[in-house]
Amino acid sequence: MTAKPMTRTRCDRTPAWSELRACYEAGGRQFDLRTAFAADAQRFEQFSQSAPHVFADLSKNLIDAPTQQLLLDLARQCGVEAHRDAMFAGEAVNSTEQRPAMHYLLRTPNPALAGQTQPAIKYVADELRKVHATLDAMLAYAQAVRAEEGITDIVNIGIGGSDLGPQMAVLALDAFVARGKTFHFVSSVDGHELSKVLRQVRPESTLFLVASKSFTTLETMTNARSAKAWFEAQGGQDIARHFCALTSNVAAAREFGIATTFGFWDWVGGRYSMWSAIGLPIAIAIGSECFRELLAGAHAMDEHFRMAPLAQNLPVQLALLDVWYRNFHGFGSRSVAPYHSGLRRMQAYQQQLEMESNGKRVDERGEALPYATSPVVWGEPAANGQHAYFQMLHQGSDVIPVEFIAVKKVAHALPEHHHKLLANALAQAQALMLGQADPGGHRHLPGNRPSTFLLLDELNPSSLGAIIALQEHRVFVAGSLWGINSFDQWGVELGKVLARDMETRLSSGNTEGLDASTAGLLARLRS
Ligand code: F6P
Repeated sequence: MTAKPMTRTRCDRTPAWSELRACYEAGGRQFDLRTAFAADAQRFEQFSQSAPHVFADLSKNLIDAPTQQLLLDLARQCGVEAHRDAMFAGEAVNSTEQRPAMHYLLRTPNPALAGQTQPAIKYVADELRKVHATLDAMLAYAQAVRAEEGITDIVNIGIGGSDLGPQMAVLALDAFVARGKTFHFVSSVDGHELSKVLRQVRPESTLFLVASKSFTTLETMTNARSAKAWFEAQGGQDIARHFCALTSNVAAAREFGIATTFGFWDWVGGRYSMWSAIGLPIAIAIGSECFRELLAGAHAMDEHFRMAPLAQNLPVQLALLDVWYRNFHGFGSRSVAPYHSGLRRMQAYQQQLEMESNGKRVDERGEALPYATSPVVWGEPAANGQHAYFQMLHQGSDVIPVEFIAVKKVAHALPEHHHKLLANALAQAQALMLGQADPGGHRHLPGNRPSTFLLLDELNPSSLGAIIALQEHRVFVAGSLWGINSFDQWGVELGKVLARDMETRLSSGNTEGLDASTAGLLARLRS
């Protein structure tokens, strides 16, 4: 691994930043989508883009061509391309932990099989060899589990990145999932979760996957210990057959008593790990061929991000809009609106990806930032959201950009349903933009509310891989513009330390040195 210092310029120190400020003050603030469409018959064509497996209509966003140009200048002046190339060259872009972030390597085809040349950098080529050795072994294991009729239930025990990706993907790819196997995901230390699953399974037909990069996470280790104790108490035999660990801390897994392990590397961040051994539940669910298609879809998006000029680069364009909205319009959140029930954990997945990556208040050097970073990312499958929080999107006091995700072809035989679903997606985006005039009345919808419309031909392993990689790279670019390290998560550590202290205090009742609120709550919980 090479550890060259990065040449990045923080967004607020570029000429483009001041020009964007001036552009916002001069007219950007008043930009009106309805006027823009009326003035330009080509607006849809001009502001839509194709990337592998994803078509993106960006035309209902609050931008015009000069603003887009200034945003592209911003990307260039910040050194986004050099930063991206540094990530793809295996440089230590995770500066606070002095590690590369090479999740893209997990989906890079095996050069030996693909007839391609090895990566030029020896370190990257060596890591790629390890990736493929592990991938082949893991997929062979997944196929064996699929073939074993005796195993009917797969219980994934993991949290954060060791839960959200696999859970989201198994739900999204339901049409490809092997019948005869049930997938359970236990993440919280709340015992209701594990005990509910244990009531449904039998030791002889269950495979527990203990998924934890660190193999120290309190929730996962507590659940894993309880699952193992339950297995033994139920007379379960053969831990090696019924427990498998997915971790970069293989030694800890062995010490825990799990002999079957699949490893990965410290350069895979937890929230970027569904492509690694952490993806085993996905591979068992959809099979090795489909898992390779998932990787191939993501790889196609990696190549698009790496090669496409900035103006045609979809992750870059999405990130530039994020910065335009967050730092100039002052919008504090973005709503993810998937029109496909299979994508019902998509917003949770994107929440970790974006808010854990870019929820930072200092730059890479530790200097406090004078501008806002990650928006709140939230949402629900939007067909339901329409009957719940969409009221606020249309008439609330905050403007919240919406990111629609729609799928052209579906895997069910109820065409009328899909027709209506798509009609709703189009109608909502239209209503947000057009609004409705009822001056002074309660039926007034101001309109001019921005949205992006992402369209997939089909929701299949390749398109899912592509859209997830698109989100990863978009988060990287936004973090790059903001000058932060998107690959660490120090903010989560304090709570973990305090929870250990609280655990002891809850047992002993010792409230010494605690603030009055925590002491009062602790006493009530013990009484
Ligand atoms: O607490 C945050 C976090 O470290 C996430 O970044 C990570 O995805 C999750 O916990 C789980 O960590 P692990 O896979 O090490 O159990």
